[in-house]
Amino acid sequence: MDKFTIKGGKKLSGTIHVSGSKNGALPVMAAALLADGVTTLKNIPYLRDIQTFSNVLRVLGASVDGGPRILRIDARKCNHFEAPYDLVKTMRASFYVLGPLLARYGKVRVSLPGGCAWGPRPVDLHLKGLEALGADIKVTHGYVEASAKRLSGGTFEFEKVSVGATANLLMAASLAKGTSRLINTAREPEITFLIDTLRKMGASIKLVKDGIEVKGVSKLKPVTTTVIPDRIEAGTYIAAGIIAGGKLTIENAPIDDISSAIAVFGKTGAKITVQKNKVIVEAPKVIKALDISTAPFPGFATDLQAQIMAVLSVAKGTSVVTDTIYHDRFSHVAELRRLGADIRLEGNAATITGVKNLSGAQVMATDLRASAALVVAGLRAKGETAISRVYHIDRGYEKIEEKLKSVGADIKREREEMVV
Ligand code: EPZ
Repeated sequence: MDKFTIKGGKKLSGTIHVSGSKNGALPVMAAALLADGVTTLKNIPYLRDIQTFSNVLRVLGASVDGGPRILRIDARKCNHFEAPYDLVKTMRASFYVLGPLLARYGKVRVSLPGGCAWGPRPVDLHLKGLEALGADIKVTHGYVEASAKRLSGGTFEFEKVSVGATANLLMAASLAKGTSRLINTAREPEITFLIDTLRKMGASIKLVKDGIEVKGVSKLKPVTTTVIPDRIEAGTYIAAGIIAGGKLTIENAPIDDISSAIAVFGKTGAKITVQKNKVIVEAPKVIKALDISTAPFPGFATDLQAQIMAVLSVAKGTSVVTDTIYHDRFSHVAELRRLGADIRLEGNAATITGVKNLSGAQVMATDLRASAALVVAGLRAKGETAISRVYHIDRGYEKIEEKLKSVGADIKREREEMVV
């Protein structure tokens, strides 16, 4: 396993390039299963989760190959309709194969994803939604077994906004017989990108006042598309620019997708200017405290909650960060406290009393965004911060240590000696 060693206190200056979106790429990789041919995806980020999902598709019989930043997925030879536990447990997004396989082949067996580092991740909305499209669903021995002669159009209202369930239902409804109406759907940019890709494949999808209307078609064709830039990666580097000091340019940033994040981060006193697809972050002398609650897009993303908490841990004053999407997404709190942060947790709200400085320590990565928050904090902490188990970070950040090093951070990746 690898670890990062960061010597804090170095101001950042220069330009970081944003890679393709992990959460944009994964659903369209699944959508390739709907097409009888080779789907080509460009601007693919070099991430563990992309490799994991490529392996899931290979287990299903699809062939997946390509080169740097490009994937070609041939779904013509899919001959196995089971996504096994040992793959799904490593990445919840493997659950995205449910909708496409059911729609295209009429049967699928997918392991329940189970929990993750911060708690339960239910899939009830995925299952209820597919039943509304005529699927027969059984849950046995930790697997979902779904079948349908042919899915039929139906109406389904999401009792809460779900990115993954919206994606699964969109893909399933695209090949269902008849029209489906999905109400209270997610509007994240990754869903918009999936809709654009499905439309290019021949799906008939219309945005309506309270959701999405899908007219099923009999076939979808393979396409070539370019993955959108990663808004969460961009937001993470905005946080890094603010806490480390200096002036950081983030290029290839999806400005429209991060406008709410830019507004919130701007309340710290940072001067954030936007020029075409560049975000320029000039750190404030003193970081201002602020209160923020996460919300579905276009609100402040839960995937940036840990990172802004790291920034606020050295703000002047007291901040409250509330996660309304995941009430227990706080595995970063204990580790930030090890760096000297003063954080009190009550239910799904964290009260952060800003401290003058953080001090470097040994900390452990637990999940993707919590680990990113530790990197952000380590840029500021006095002395050396060692972050173990950085494979969590490699799931969703392409070469984060190289990108940060290129703008002046003192960060290096080292092999972690196993302590028996
Ligand atoms: C996606 O996860 C993202 N993952 C997550 O990013 C992100 O945190 C999340 O959306 C929220 O924005 C990918 O895109 C691969 P949800 P997803 O279904 O689809 C509840 C990262 O760091 N819910 O929108 O699994 C759920 O418990 C990852 O890149 C149900 O109750 O999230 C949560 O409270 C982490 N039943 C809320 O809905 C369901 O069937 C939103 O979850 C499904 C979800």
